[in-house]
Amino acid sequence: MAFEELLSSWDGEEVIVRYDGPTGSWMLIGVHSTVRGPAMGGTRLNAYARPEEALDDVLRLSAAMTVKQAVADLPYGGGKAVVAVPEVPARASDARRDLLLRYAELVDSLHGTYVTAADMNTGEADMDTIGERTSHVLGRSRDAGGSGDPGASTAVGVFHGIRASVAQAFGSDDLQGRSVLVQGLGSVGSRLAEHLHDAGAELLVADTDHDRVGSLVDRLGAKPVEADEVMGMPCDVFAPCATGGVLTGDTIPSLGCRVVAGAANNQLGAREDADRLRDAGILYAPDYVINAGGVIHLAGFETLGWDEARVSERLEGIGDTLREVFGGAERDGISTAAAADRLAAARISAVT
Ligand code: NAI
Repeated sequence: MAFEELLSSWDGEEVIVRYDGPTGSWMLIGVHSTVRGPAMGGTRLNAYARPEEALDDVLRLSAAMTVKQAVADLPYGGGKAVVAVPEVPARASDARRDLLLRYAELVDSLHGTYVTAADMNTGEADMDTIGERTSHVLGRSRDAGGSGDPGASTAVGVFHGIRASVAQAFGSDDLQGRSVLVQGLGSVGSRLAEHLHDAGAELLVADTDHDRVGSLVDRLGAKPVEADEVMGMPCDVFAPCATGGVLTGDTIPSLGCRVVAGAANNQLGAREDADRLRDAGILYAPDYVINAGGVIHLAGFETLGWDEARVSERLEGIGDTLREVFGGAERDGISTAAAADRLAAARISAVT
């Protein structure tokens, strides 16, 4: 789709576009909503075949941030940015630093309408660089005055979400002996695996990086699963913690689980996949509800002045929010994704 078609079918507030001459990159910032507060969401550094694809990502992802922040009940709206580069510059390179400093100036020029953080291909060190030119950045390193990588908090939130989901599906939140398949053993998945192991779950683990699988097999006695055999694998809970788009008309019929509850963003290929899961008798914990631990960590520690205890309480609250979503879905005969969207809409309209 062309730029004008994409923009005219979007319901957000504004998109800021800058072409970066020195690198031939597009910098796109989507401010989807500032109704509940400044638009907050990560900066994705990625190569795209065409700038329209980058814009499509910004529009979809910024809208998803609006509902995520609302359901997490944070004083933020939804935003997202993409720096669409011809080739992702190497970490710690001068080229990357120069690009991020110019990008930071663009963020700063918005005077806080948009607040950035890390996302795909960006991390703590990049947020430190951005922080040299703007204060509207979360997730800098602790040394630079930030709260660091939020992956550990995301994992704790997903863990509480899995317990709430298991309670809904099986009548008890006890994970002892429950089989949980974790797909993707990165910042979130590896830590989630540890929490699940400590709670007595029977762990199955998959990653395209075999070293990551091997490490959890050795340390936690997890059972390895080949990355391309994840979908049909029998288990109680499937926890996608790698990439989006894993739940589609093609994959859902082969799922061997009773619950899908994991960290990955945009797990559903399309809206109707939530109904497909419901029809298949699979309980789906909506991704943006269960993976809100990251934004709770960033907003809590850096903006709201919360201490560890308060953040932990809010991460545990992800389980309560899911119980509310599951209850609403059951009561009204709708998918859990529709029930989550309804909760987000109610929280947004409550402040207007
Ligand atoms: P990461 O990049 O640290 O780890 C992803 C892992 O998935 C890597 O080990 C990679 O090798 C593996 N992987 C990639 N494709 C795979 C495949 N097809 N099959 C199996 N493994 C595969 O990412 P991180 O930070 O752990 O995030 C995981 C997911 O959670 C992402 O979708 C991310 O957007 C989402 N998320 C992360 C948050 C955070 O705080 N880090 C917050 C909210 C969502």
